[in-house]
Amino acid sequence: MHNANPAPLTARRSKALEGTAQVPGDKSISQRALILGALAEGETVISGLLESGDVHSTAQALRGFGASLTRVGPGNWRVQGLGVGNWRAPAAPLDFGNSGTGSRLVMGAMATTPITAVFTGDASLRSRPMARVVEPLLAFGVTYEGQGPKALMPLTLHGAGEAQAIDKTLSVASAQVKSALLLAALNARGTTHITQNTLTRDHSEKMLAAFGARIKVTPLPDGGETILVEGPAVLKACTVDVPRDPSSAAFAIVAALIVPGSRIELPGIMLNPRRAGLIETLLEMGAKIEIANRRSSGGEESGDLTVRYSALKGVEVPPDRAPAMIDEYPILAVAAAFAAGKTAMRGLEELRVKESDRLEAVAAGLKANGVQYEIEGDDLIVTGGAVPGGGTVATHMDHRIAMSFLTMGLASQNPVTVDDVTMIATSFPEYQDLMRDLGADLK
Ligand code: S3P
Repeated sequence: MHNANPAPLTARRSKALEGTAQVPGDKSISQRALILGALAEGETVISGLLESGDVHSTAQALRGFGASLTRVGPGNWRVQGLGVGNWRAPAAPLDFGNSGTGSRLVMGAMATTPITAVFTGDASLRSRPMARVVEPLLAFGVTYEGQGPKALMPLTLHGAGEAQAIDKTLSVASAQVKSALLLAALNARGTTHITQNTLTRDHSEKMLAAFGARIKVTPLPDGGETILVEGPAVLKACTVDVPRDPSSAAFAIVAALIVPGSRIELPGIMLNPRRAGLIETLLEMGAKIEIANRRSSGGEESGDLTVRYSALKGVEVPPDRAPAMIDEYPILAVAAAFAAGKTAMRGLEELRVKESDRLEAVAAGLKANGVQYEIEGDDLIVTGGAVPGGGTVATHMDHRIAMSFLTMGLASQNPVTVDDVTMIATSFPEYQDLMRDLGADLK
C-alpha cells in the first residue's frame, strides 16, 4: 500500500532536545466533538480542535448529512447540529480519507435514521474491516453492502427507521465499535445495553453525558462494564475544550527519553487513565517523566509533563494494558530498542487492523535498522541496546509508523529514513515543525 506521491524524510542523531512542545488537540475527542455537535440541537462551540486530515474528513462528511460546521479561528469551530434522527441522506459518497474513527462512528450515528449513505476512503481505510462495526449494527435493523466478508469499503449503509434498543456484548476490544453502537442507540426506542469485557477509551461515554444523553455506566464484577443508553435521546449543544493528544505527545516524549541530555516540557496533555498506558509503561522502564498541575477540564483529566533523557530498561507489558496504549506500541517498540534488555509486548492482535498491519510494519522497521526482535503469535519482544539505524522504513500509509521510526533516527548510530511522511498530516500536521523546534534533525 503506497501513496501516489510519497515524500521521504530522514532523521539523524540529534543534539539534546530542549523546549516546550505544544502538541495539538486529541484526535479521538476532536472527532467526537464534531459528530456529537452535528447530532445535537443548537450550536456547539469547540476550542482546541485538532485540525488534521482525519478531522477534516469527518467534518466534510457531516456537512454531507446537512450539519453546518464553521471554522472561526485556529482550533475554534462552531457546529450547528440537526438533532438526533434528523440527518439527511448525503447526495454523494462520503470520503473519510484515512479515518477509521470518523467513518465508524458516523456509521453508528446514522444507523438508526432511515437514510442511505456510501462510505469510502483511501487505500489504507479501504483495506480495513468494517464488518466489526456493521455486523453488530444489524441488530438495530440496518442493512449494508460492503466488499467481501470483511465488509470493506466502498460500503453502502441503509439506516433503520423505527429502531428498537438492543442488548449486545462486544466481541472486539474496540472503542470505535463501542462508540458506533452507543451513537446508534441514541435514536432507538428503549434502553440499549452494551457490555464490554475489556475497558477501552471512554471519551464517547463522557461526552454523551456532557451533551445531556441519559447514559449510565455500571461496572461488572469481572472487570468489564455495561453501558446503558436511553433512546430516543435529545442532545443539547455544549462547549468542548479539547485537551492535547497523548498519542501525538508520545513521539516527543520518547524522543526526549532517548536523545542524551534532553529535557522538554509538554503542557496540558490529556491523562485519561484509559489512554495513559504508554506513560505507565515508560515509568516502569525508568523514564524520568514528571507530571504536574493535574487538573480536569470538560470531564477529561490533563496535566503538564516534564521529560528528561533516561537510561531505560526492558519490561514486560501485560496484554490487559493494550487498550490503554493501543496506538502507542510502534513508539514503545522504538523506546524498547534503546532500553537495556528485553521488552515483551503481549496481546497485540488489534495492531493488525490499524492504518497498516502495525505488528508487521514495526517488525520490518526494526529489522531494517538492525534491532533484534522476535514475534511469537501476537507478542512482540524487542531486545534493546545501541541501535545501528541506517535503514529505510516502509510506512504503508501509516502516520504512526512514520513518526515512530523518525524518532528512532534521532538517537540511532546511523540515520533512519522513512519512505513517506505525507500521512503524518492525518493526525499531527505540526509534527515536523514541532520536532525541529525542539532540536530534532529531520531533513
Ligand atoms: C479510537 C480507538 C482506537 C484507536 C484509534 C482511535 C477512537 O481504535 O486505535 O486510533 O477514537 O475511538 P479501536 O477502537 O478500533 O481499537
